[in-house]
Amino acid sequence: AHRNQLRQVLAGKKVTVTAGATVERIDPVRFITNDSSGKMGIAIAKAARDMGASVRLIAGTVQVPLPEGIETVRVQSAQDMYEAVLGEWNHTDIMIQTAAVADYRPRTVYETKMKKKDEGFTLELEKTVDILESLGQRKQGQFLVGFAAETNDVAEHAMGKLKRKNCDLLVANDVTAVGAGFGTDTNLVQIYDAQGLVADLPLMSKDEVAIQLLSVVAKRLNGVST
Ligand code: CTP
Ligand code: CA
Repeated sequence: AHRNQLRQVLAGKKVTVTAGATVERIDPVRFITNDSSGKMGIAIAKAARDMGASVRLIAGTVQVPLPEGIETVRVQSAQDMYEAVLGEWNHTDIMIQTAAVADYRPRTVYETKMKKKDEGFTLELEKTVDILESLGQRKQGQFLVGFAAETNDVAEHAMGKLKRKNCDLLVANDVTAVGAGFGTDTNLVQIYDAQGLVADLPLMSKDEVAIQLLSVVAKRLNGVST
């Protein structure tokens, strides 16, 4: 019965999910990236699809196969992901930003391979665009969900990000916990809204986290009981 209620809310809704790691080039053979596997975002995309939503996945580097039957846009850099997200934004109902987006990129991208020198060298970095914060400023009825990987003071950081980025929900996970965070098949998360903690979920598979999260989203959208 619960799944049917979820289906009723999500059927036909346009859900955009970002997943995986961005890649910031240094030169043609070198780049900066992070450990994101894309598993959480892919689990959400599949779960939303299974509930009848029309899903678009925007994927950086992922370490698992991309799901078949979900329209997927591949991107490299934070800037590429930003542009892909903006392309979907006007017709998105629910935006879920699980991607681990680089905070910085090399100030200069060398067109030819950098040659080794005798001394060390300093790589200068500049800020990337904060995609989620930018979406938070442009919200026109879209339901916006952010993620946050934290190592300490999880609740405080989560609430700070939720407010700064104007998210409707923020999913926080303590990446120092066993079975949580990058690369694992399970996750240990808390879900926050502007009032504070909404759900403190036990350790469960990322597929199950996806369903729990979509239940909370559906409840917020249509007052479905969960
Ligand atoms: N995010 C984003 N664009 C960025 C950085 C982050 O859209 N340039 C999004 C992530 O996809 C995630 C949320 O913001 O949904 C939180 O990311 P996180 O790295 O935890 O937060 P930051 O604001 O980057 O802060 P910090 O890295 O200092 O913890
Ligand atoms: Ca960050």
